Amino acid sequence: MINSMFDVTGKRVIVTGGAQGLGYGMAEGFLESGCEVVLMDISDKLDKVVNEFCEKGYKAHAVKGNLGDRPSIQKMFDEAMNIMGGVDVLVTAAGIQRRHRSDVFPMEDWDAVIAINLESVFILGQLCAKRMIEQGKGKIINIASMNTWFGGINIPAYAAAKGGIGQLTKCMANDLAALGINVNAIAPGYMATDMNEKLLKDENRTKEISERIPVKRWGTPNDMKGTALFLASAASDYLSGAIIPVDGGYLCR
Ligand SMILES: NC(=O)c1ccc[n+]([C@@H]2O[C@H](COP(=O)([O-])OP(=O)(O)OC[C@H]3O[C@@H](n4cnc5c(N)ncnc54)[C@H](O)[C@@H]3O)[C@@H](O)[C@H]2O)c1
Repeated sequence: MINSMFDVTGKRVIVTGGAQGLGYGMAEGFLESGCEVVLMDISDKLDKVVNEFCEKGYKAHAVKGNLGDRPSIQKMFDEAMNIMGGVDVLVTAAGIQRRHRSDVFPMEDWDAVIAINLESVFILGQLCAKRMIEQGKGKIINIASMNTWFGGINIPAYAAAKGGIGQLTKCMANDLAALGINVNAIAPGYMATDMNEKLLKDENRTKEISERIPVKRWGTPNDMKGTALFLASAASDYLSGAIIPVDGGYLCR
């Protein structure tokens, strides 16, 4: 009984940003657990990543496009529906980072970060929610951040977008819970991915961050798998609007 609560076999999953980093790790976790997964990404790595998954016998599909562009999001969603015939789980992991001090932060970077890290999450969430309502159930898993709570340094657009992800997750959870859809978020701590390349080169800042992580290491894409699978499974059916830190204890320090 308990094991079957965590069973996600056969679920149709969309993972944005699946070509690398945390999205890749979660997509791999779903495929290893018997799900069918559409990986949505703009990266040229996408086809290679999906081919490698297929060679392992997994049901993986590539949908390439720009989630920063509204019409493309609709096209990418339609393509995913043509492939899988529906969607049971959405994971919104695509994201970008831009670093400049707030007084000189360029507006084009603001627009790009807000479009990809916040607006695409709402648009795709809305499209998936409509389909999930027809199906009677579904799971939406947004990817928040420590910057859902903290302001950060030199990242005003990212902090605004990730703060917004927290509020968006709660509002969509309230609107959709009675319709059988669980909307929750995972807030990763400091994870060693390409997104943090510049940060990892700053020795002082890296030291400062590392000292604050009780688990004493930065996270990896593998560390995302367990919580993502839990939020996709029936084991989380009574969880709604939660933002779960997967951060090695950083937040409670
Ligand atoms: N790495 C961290 O420490 C950390 C911490 C908290 C939250 N996050 C969040 O986790 C998510 C994944 O981050 P990551 O560290 O794996 O980053 P990453 O840079 O390794 O991967 C991001 C992926 O998103 C894709 N992407 C970017 N712009 C896109 C667009 N316009 N259309 C489609 N795909 C696009 C990229 O091609 C890439 O594959 C992001 O939302 C990020 O904000 C990361």
